[in-house]
Amino acid sequence: MKLQKLLDANKDWAESIIGGDPHFFQRLANQQTPEYLWIGCSDSRVPANQITGLAPGEVFVHRNVANIVQETDFNVLAVLQYAVDVLKVKHIIVCGHYGCGGVRAALENTRHGLIDNWLAGIRSLHRRHLDELSNMPVDAAVDRLCELNVTAQALHVARTTILEDAWERGQKISVHSWIYRLDNGRIKPLAEPITQACGLTIDS
Ligand code: CO
Repeated sequence: MKLQKLLDANKDWAESIIGGDPHFFQRLANQQTPEYLWIGCSDSRVPANQITGLAPGEVFVHRNVANIVQETDFNVLAVLQYAVDVLKVKHIIVCGHYGCGGVRAALENTRHGLIDNWLAGIRSLHRRHLDELSNMPVDAAVDRLCELNVTAQALHVARTTILEDAWERGQKISVHSWIYRLDNGRIKPLAEPITQACGLTIDS
């Protein structure tokens, strides 16, 4: 049975951690104090902890298709509010990835089902940048839209009442725009981190 492999691997993993640090799990069970919130794509090839070398307890994670931050999505807002107000994370990392299937679907002029509604925001981002994107080969346009999507979603994070209120209180939080390359495993920062309320000064 394939699933037994997973359970066996889990047992080995837990034992190897305890081998190096006997109180590791007891310590974590009492409290989590992550400094980072990761907002990434659900894509199985972009696991937050593994690609950043972070251990359990070090990063709070939210993932959805195409790392979208919608102001009407209670799921992401609940994660954001808990991370900022309770966990008091110092860094929020919005990390997209090149070759994102969600972004590609948003760029295509065909129906994919319910997901097209989820991707509506990226479709309008595509329309806003049509001058640049329509002159590129499709794969390059997908990758460029992946980048534009990351910076747009980071801006959405910064414009939530959660971040604006935190900055107003003097809480130190930075919002980062990162992108991951599937074919070499490397992350690239795309823009300067946002460290204060940006009001109407920048747009996607
Ligand atoms: Co993706």
